[in-house]
Amino acid sequence: MWLPCGCTSKYVASSFARRILASHLHVSGRSRCNVAAFMPEAAGFEGVSGRAALRELSVSNSESFWAAVARHRLSWSIPFHTVQDCDLSRGKIKWFEGGKLNVSVNCLDRHVHTCPERVALIWERDERGSEMKYTYRELLEMTCRVGNLLRRHGVKRGDCVTIYMPTCPLAVASMLACARIGAAHNVVFAGFSADALAERIRDAQSSTVITVNQGVRGGKVIELKKTVDTAVESCPTVKQVFVAMRTDNPVTMTARDIAMEEYVFSYHDGDVFGCVADIGWITGHSYVVYGPLANGATTVLFESTPIYPDPGRYWDMVERLKINQFYGAPTAIRLLLKYGDQWVNKYDRSTLKTLGSVGEPINTEAWEWYHRVVGDGRCPVVDTWWQTETGGICIAPRPSDPDAEIVPGMAMRPFFGIKPVLIDTEGELLTSNNTSGALCMAQPWPGMARTIHNNHQRFIETYFQPYPGYFFTGDGAYRSEEGYYQITGRLDDVINVSGHRIGTAEIEDVVNQCPAVAESAVIGYTHSIKGQGVYAFVVLKKGIDVKEADLSRQLNGMVSEKIAKYASPDFIQFAQRLPKTRSGKIMRRVLRKVVESDLEGLGDLSTLDDPAAVQEIIQGHEKLLSKNRP
Ligand code: WTA
Repeated sequence: MWLPCGCTSKYVASSFARRILASHLHVSGRSRCNVAAFMPEAAGFEGVSGRAALRELSVSNSESFWAAVARHRLSWSIPFHTVQDCDLSRGKIKWFEGGKLNVSVNCLDRHVHTCPERVALIWERDERGSEMKYTYRELLEMTCRVGNLLRRHGVKRGDCVTIYMPTCPLAVASMLACARIGAAHNVVFAGFSADALAERIRDAQSSTVITVNQGVRGGKVIELKKTVDTAVESCPTVKQVFVAMRTDNPVTMTARDIAMEEYVFSYHDGDVFGCVADIGWITGHSYVVYGPLANGATTVLFESTPIYPDPGRYWDMVERLKINQFYGAPTAIRLLLKYGDQWVNKYDRSTLKTLGSVGEPINTEAWEWYHRVVGDGRCPVVDTWWQTETGGICIAPRPSDPDAEIVPGMAMRPFFGIKPVLIDTEGELLTSNNTSGALCMAQPWPGMARTIHNNHQRFIETYFQPYPGYFFTGDGAYRSEEGYYQITGRLDDVINVSGHRIGTAEIEDVVNQCPAVAESAVIGYTHSIKGQGVYAFVVLKKGIDVKEADLSRQLNGMVSEKIAKYASPDFIQFAQRLPKTRSGKIMRRVLRKVVESDLEGLGDLSTLDDPAAVQEIIQGHEKLLSKNRP
């Protein structure tokens, strides 16, 4: 199963889109700046006077647009000779051919030359009030040390290093160090279990892993080194594991482990970009590490949780670190909303200029609360749509004219160089407004994925074959009368729990490993806090005699252990059989409708093998709900 954390190789060469995309959130906070002020390259584009004209040019003459941005905003060791050579109908994506740059030089060295003492990172540690600041000079030093260490231990250009660390400065330095020496990095979310980590290490064929002795999150100690020990037992490629110390507790070291040294820190002032994503996900890559650093910004590394030690944590942090742009996930906003306004009002949030949201649709109630309570009604809320595959923000209300309207719960406007289209189930392009369809991109842009590591064929099949000539996002969208886009959700078998994507097949795989289970089907359903919850239908083998409650506990434990806690089912419904087509395919669409209690919408059941199966599923579902009602 390919997951977001596996596709980081594209970072080595195509960071420039993230730079401009990161400036997106910075820019949107300022008011009434003219186009050349926020994009000096625009001065070279004849006849372009406003943002609308600039956006138009970025799509109609995308080569000139991206070439100007790339030349102006990045340092190239060898300039490119060809801006792009892309063909969406064949899934061929090539940008800036002949050009050579080092993304870590662009993120660090350039700023060290001009402003070495500017704060690059503010590490908001799990322990409230113990933040640490790192300047660009310090981050460069740390990166060089890690790079040299890796090189001394044989890591070379083209290798792929797995990073299994909490969000912390050394993790950022490790990412940049890999990029510096030409190695790819495979950052694995530190909430993943040993099995899930092992699969990702094997997929990347890493010989080197970097981790910490223990992580701390929400006051709890997490045994990351022990998880790595278990994982690498089934990873024959791993030759060495670098271990840094996040806590003071020693851990057992083996012959393949290498201790990393401690580093220095100091305190300085700076502008503050607060993206609270974990570095193990794409948002952490693009908007905690590469985007802000390439732009010379000060970026916050948030190690904790939104409710530790209490639900005021984010806003206390905003006050203490003087955060100007806050970028978070709807799931956290929905959670905090339930605790009440007093946790927000306690803290001074006057430094905030822009509030961002990403990862899943933000419902109107959460949007309004974010805007009215958190932002005191004065900060624009930008609902940003994008995905791992797009590298950076593609649809968002800003940048646009400062007074341009923002509609709650809508990503609205395509970003520079982005040309979204909607396509119907027959593959026809939908040209009118007030219509819904599959969201595709009609034009390539430099930040987009170029391949799937070790599986280019899958890249083509997944993204370019469903709608020939277009990049398929996997999402559905609605285009309003005014031409604004609203994302309606995933169209495929991928669930988005608290902004974390997981394939239903991956969860089913674990459930099916239980000796008592014959087969299973996992469905996502609307969940008031997590966005989507996990609902599993499980069919037991004949003659199995177990208490359902015990088995549910066991299955939940297995999923937590083999994937991650967030993937563990909220509901498990035991069934005699699953509704299937005559060709034996589970009719997930029917299960989804049952779970959504939309019995009117079951749709065409003519291919169903045995209609009684659906009735059984409906009754079982009602029974489960009545048991769980307070
Ligand atoms: C969903 C996260 C609605 C979408 C950056 C997408 C959203 C998937 C939004 C990507 C949004 C992301 N409104 N849905 N503003 N942002 N999504 O790869 O389904 O972890 O395809 O990247 O999240 O998730 P990923």
